Amino acid sequence: MKKFLIAPSILSADFARLGEDTARVLAAGADVVHFDVMDNHYVPNLTMGPMVLKALRDFGITAPIDVHLMVKPVDRIIPDFADAGASYITFHPEGSEHVHRSLQLIKSHGCKAGLVFNPATPLSYLDYVMDQLDVILLMSVNPGFGGQSFIPGTLDKLRQVRRLIDDSGRDIRLEVDGGVKVDNIGAIAAAGADMFVAGSAIFGHSDYQEIIEAMRRELNG
Ligand code: DX5
Ligand code: ZN
Repeated sequence: MKKFLIAPSILSADFARLGEDTARVLAAGADVVHFDVMDNHYVPNLTMGPMVLKALRDFGITAPIDVHLMVKPVDRIIPDFADAGASYITFHPEGSEHVHRSLQLIKSHGCKAGLVFNPATPLSYLDYVMDQLDVILLMSVNPGFGGQSFIPGTLDKLRQVRRLIDDSGRDIRLEVDGGVKVDNIGAIAAAGADMFVAGSAIFGHSDYQEIIEAMRRELNG
């Protein structure tokens, strides 16, 4: 298993050429496609649904797709994303009446399940669901938009979650999302993250391979 996964957020891709742009970023060395779903209710923006994910699969995208649901309520849409071809499905506890049930629902559809923590969401949710998790996603910005700045307090929170994961002895990815760039990805990895979402930093660069390689150099160097 790869130690570090780079997951470009296609929120910052060219929506008019989404298939081509996604294929291009994967060919440039990305590991996972991060797919941001915003519902203009839980977060103030509106993006993509399961039909778009299915269209990417039909276009020939075979890489893992990491569906980040910024949706409330979340349960009704989970099976649709699983059927459309999601690999990971993560959601915010605020979007679910029954967090444990939503995690079970994801897993019963054969997807990897994860919980997402906003900058001000306490980690106490983890006390009873660690055994249900394949990934823990810490937001390093408030959700809703790409292109925001990394909130430095996330580094401490990452260290806390890294300890919890290590103590659990479970194989759980620690993902970080928001404001990840070449100049902070090394510090984020040092704090314990091993899966890195980056939207504007990658798609805002003219050469995807160059920027992904620069990120990997920071991670491995
Ligand atoms: C924010 C989204 C992020 C976002 C990251 O709500 O969850 O995935 O696209 O974008 P950057 O990397 O531009 O901060
Ligand atoms: Zn995201």
